[in-house]
Amino acid sequence: MSKIRWGILSSARIARQKVIPAIQDSQRGTVAAIASRNPSLAQQVAESHQIPTICPTYDDLIQLDTIDAVYIPLPNHLHVEWACKAIKAGKHVLCEKPLGLNEMDVQHLLNVSRQYPKQLVAEAFMYRHHPQWTRTREWVRTNYIGELRSIHVHFSYDNRDPDNIRNKLEFGGGALMDIGCYGISVARWLYGSEPKRVCAHAERHPQFRTDTSTTALLDFAQGGATVICGTQIQRAEHVTIVGTKGKITLQTPFNIPPDEPAYLDLQQDQERSIHTLGPANQFSEQCDAFAAAVIDGEPLCTPIVDSLNNMRVIDACFQSAQANTWITCEHLTDP
Ligand SMILES: NC(=O)c1ccc[n+]([C@@H]2O[C@H](COP(=O)([O-])OP(=O)(O)OC[C@H]3O[C@@H](n4cnc5c(N)ncnc54)[C@H](OP(=O)(O)O)[C@@H]3O)[C@@H](O)[C@H]2O)c1
Repeated sequence: MSKIRWGILSSARIARQKVIPAIQDSQRGTVAAIASRNPSLAQQVAESHQIPTICPTYDDLIQLDTIDAVYIPLPNHLHVEWACKAIKAGKHVLCEKPLGLNEMDVQHLLNVSRQYPKQLVAEAFMYRHHPQWTRTREWVRTNYIGELRSIHVHFSYDNRDPDNIRNKLEFGGGALMDIGCYGISVARWLYGSEPKRVCAHAERHPQFRTDTSTTALLDFAQGGATVICGTQIQRAEHVTIVGTKGKITLQTPFNIPPDEPAYLDLQQDQERSIHTLGPANQFSEQCDAFAAAVIDGEPLCTPIVDSLNNMRVIDACFQSAQANTWITCEHLTDP
């Protein structure tokens, strides 16, 4: 196999606008099929992106023998159900974040995937594939800024549409699930460990009941992280990482357009420098990294175990916000 033949489960906005074009532009991927509940939209997407096969149902798509992997950009409450069906049908799975609704949901997927060890499953945290993050993580790991002590992540937007999946509690909507998951993922990835405990405060929408803003403190053994996310405030995103001897700031850590370079602002003691990374399409990079895992046996950047621990921290934040106290995190060390 030289290229992954992808099947796309739905005509989701993220698929239409970002992931399908990125797969078609990637080195080792091609979109072979799409399934949608909306035949005319599927037809339109297939025509504009040269997708040869349209399936009337998601079930039809996962059974195709002309695809190797399924990309799942469904609402969050459908992720685990369709990931399980796809691996049982012999397909590899790249599933959108967050991987499930809670720890139990993701644990179920992990249990099922263990019965199908040939099928790979990864969570689509595309940011990890952008060169700005590869470089940042390398700097942190090699103590370029001294010992890591503090991470601050802000991610927000303004979306008040009651029909949007992000504003539906039963779909796994809300700020922490939709974008707070990035901050938690970043902090765990950069520290290379799990937080010992978390403390969070969440504001909930009176009708939607989703959290419209959450502030979380993550206490790692060697330092801390703050994650602030909101769905009814100004669109904004930035990450600041501080060590004992320096600081890194990412101006566009998550939604960096494929045709724009990223600028890393590095301060080492008194010296400040700006580093240009990219332009790069993090969605194409994600697809090629997935292909390297499937075809060459390279390790996955975001395997289910990582997602499970991310989900446990999200759950702990919700628990903390509800109980108004610190919550100790217990994590799988050897899942
Ligand atoms: N990595 C990223 O940068 C990024 C960015 C945005 C979103 N996401 C993730 O991608 C996923 C989809 O987000 P989106 O904004 O693209 O969502 P969206 O436009 O609302 O698409 C979701 C799709 O799921 C299908 N669907 C199946 N059952 C549904 C139901 N009961 N209600 C609504 N839709 C249903 C629909 O497709 P059909 O009608 O075609 O079947 C719908 O178009 C979420 O998990 C989100 O967290 C990731």
